[in-house]
Amino acid sequence: MAKIIDGKAYAEGLRGRIGKAVAALMSEHGLTPGLAVVLVGEDPASKVYVANKAKQTVEVGMNSWEHKLPADTPEKDLLALVEKLNNDPAVHGILVQLPLPGHIDSTKVLTAISPAKDVDGFHVVNVGKLSTGQDSLVPCTPVGSVMLAKDVLGKLDGLEAVVIGRSNIVGKPVAQLLLAENCTVTIAHSKTKDLPAVVRRADLVIAAVGRPEMVKGDWLKPGATVIDVGINRIERDGKGKLVGDCDYASCEKVAGAITPVPGGVGPMTIACLLYNTVKAACAAKGIPQPEM
Ligand code: GUN
Repeated sequence: MAKIIDGKAYAEGLRGRIGKAVAALMSEHGLTPGLAVVLVGEDPASKVYVANKAKQTVEVGMNSWEHKLPADTPEKDLLALVEKLNNDPAVHGILVQLPLPGHIDSTKVLTAISPAKDVDGFHVVNVGKLSTGQDSLVPCTPVGSVMLAKDVLGKLDGLEAVVIGRSNIVGKPVAQLLLAENCTVTIAHSKTKDLPAVVRRADLVIAAVGRPEMVKGDWLKPGATVIDVGINRIERDGKGKLVGDCDYASCEKVAGAITPVPGGVGPMTIACLLYNTVKAACAAKGIPQPEM
């Protein structure tokens, strides 16, 4: 049976270390990192995420601002708000919650965020820096996924890593991070031929495809580490249930270690957002980044 990777506990520990770093920044430098989150519309899942982000931001001692705009907000008004936040020295991190309503060009909005405040790491400048090995703000879920993998495996040097999914939010950035950790990285996706055979090569599997329970236990190399990024809501036995992209019941019998859903990668995302906000605040003030 696989070791269960407790992302909830790891994220709690990380938030504790962030809280200590924030307190030290305040007492030693008079700096309180601040995160502004922008939500456009009424998407129920997004409202929950944004509320959790705000709550955890305050819990670690940082400033938090929530900007809730109606679903029919014109693109130019959202761009004007982003510009205002770019120019506000108390705001060190800006996150515009995705997905945005259809009439708004998400790329245009993400590109309008100052790269120095882009705590999502979605701006092309940060994407380019990550892929060229420069220090940058890196997307939160990939950072959290690699932290968990390193917690279990120690060094990742030389491991065969297979990333399933090629999104800009997870698949591509996590592949870059694994490459920087000296893994041999394969990015698989919906057009990959014989996906089970590709996955079977992996010492480390990152499943970020958004298909409930797609990866089966007999796709895995025995002892592989499985990081399941999927969060899929399904109906089972007449009840709503959250499941990952991996079929947990069969995978836990073959894997060496596996993240559960919920309680695996999910809690890491907000913790890493707080981490990025501290990083952005220190960079803005020219202060070395504290240990977290
Ligand atoms: N929607 C779902 N996940 C995310 C995320 O990590 N960042 C943003 N901005 N929106 C999201």
